Amino acid sequence: MKIFTLKSDLKNYLAAEKKKGNSIGFVPTMGALHKGHLSLVEKALSKTNITVVSIFVNPTQFDNKEDLDKYPKTLENDIKLLESVDCDVLFAPSVEEIYDENVVAERFDFDGLEHQMEGKFRDGHFDGVGTIVKALFEIVEPDVAYFGKKDFQQLQIIKKLVEKHNIPVKIKGMPIFREKDGLAMSSRNTRLTKEHREAAPFIHRILKKARKKTGTKNAKEITEWVKNQFENHPLLELEYFTIAEEKTLISVDKFEEYKRYRAFIAVFAGEIRLIDNVRF
Ligand code: PAJ
Repeated sequence: MKIFTLKSDLKNYLAAEKKKGNSIGFVPTMGALHKGHLSLVEKALSKTNITVVSIFVNPTQFDNKEDLDKYPKTLENDIKLLESVDCDVLFAPSVEEIYDENVVAERFDFDGLEHQMEGKFRDGHFDGVGTIVKALFEIVEPDVAYFGKKDFQQLQIIKKLVEKHNIPVKIKGMPIFREKDGLAMSSRNTRLTKEHREAAPFIHRILKKARKKTGTKNAKEITEWVKNQFENHPLLELEYFTIAEEKTLISVDKFEEYKRYRAFIAVFAGEIRLIDNVRF
C-alpha cells in the first residue's frame, strides 16, 4: 500500500494512474478503522481500479473539544487492516496540510437537510463535514466515493453537496455493519465502559421493535413508545428519536404510501454519544 501525507504527492501519483485509464474509488474516514469501514474499502476495491482511503480526524466537524481530543487514534493498526484487504493508497495528512490558506471553513446550504437531527444537536457539524469532504474531493478527484448509511444524514448531505457544487463524483451509500449483538460498529464503541458496551445493543433492539409496530401504529405513537422505553433506562440516555422521510429528513407523525421512511436515534451511553438508524 502506498502511503501519502502530502496533497501534492498524492495528486501526482493519482494523475499518472488516471492517465493510464484507471478509475479511482475513495473512502474518506477519520481512522480507528473497524469492519464497517473495511466493508466500504472492499466495495471500492471490487468496483474501481485504485482505492484511496483517507484518514483525517477533521477538527472543524467536532462541536465538542473533548470529543475531538479523545477521538481514538490507531494509525499503525489502521495501516495493518488496510494492508490486510490490499488497499492501494492511504492518504493520512496533518491538520496543517489540509487547512492551508486555500481551504476556508465554509457555511453550506444543503436545502434544509443540515437543520434536522444531528444538525440540531451538533452545532456547525455539517459545515465541517462539507468543508473537509469538498476539500478531499478536490484533492483525490475520485470517480466513485463510498459512504456508510450508519451516518445516513451525512450521506444525504454529501449527495446534496455534490449536486449543488457540480462535483463530478458518484456517491454510493453502503449498508450499516453491525456487531453480532446488533450494535452498529463505530470508532467510538471502543471508548464505552464495559457496562455501557453491554447495555448498548438495546438501541438496535428498540429500533427493530419499533419497526414492527408500523403496521398498527403511526409515527407519532411509535416515537412516544420509543421514548418510554428509554425513560427509566439506568445507563442509556435518549437524545432524540425521530421518524423522517428519507429524502428530506423531515420528521413525520403519520406514514404516507409511496414514501420511504427511516427511524433515527442518538443516545448517550455515559459520555459516549451513539447514533443509529433503520429503514422503516
Ligand atoms: P468515520 O466516522 O470514520 O466514517 C467513515 C465512513 O465509514 C463514513 O461514510 C461512515 O458512514 C462509514 N461507517 C462508519 N461506521 C460504519 C458502519 N458500522 N457500517 C457502515 N459504514 C460505516 O464519517 C466520517 O468518518 C467523517 O464524517 C468523514 C466523512 C470522513 C468526514 O470527516
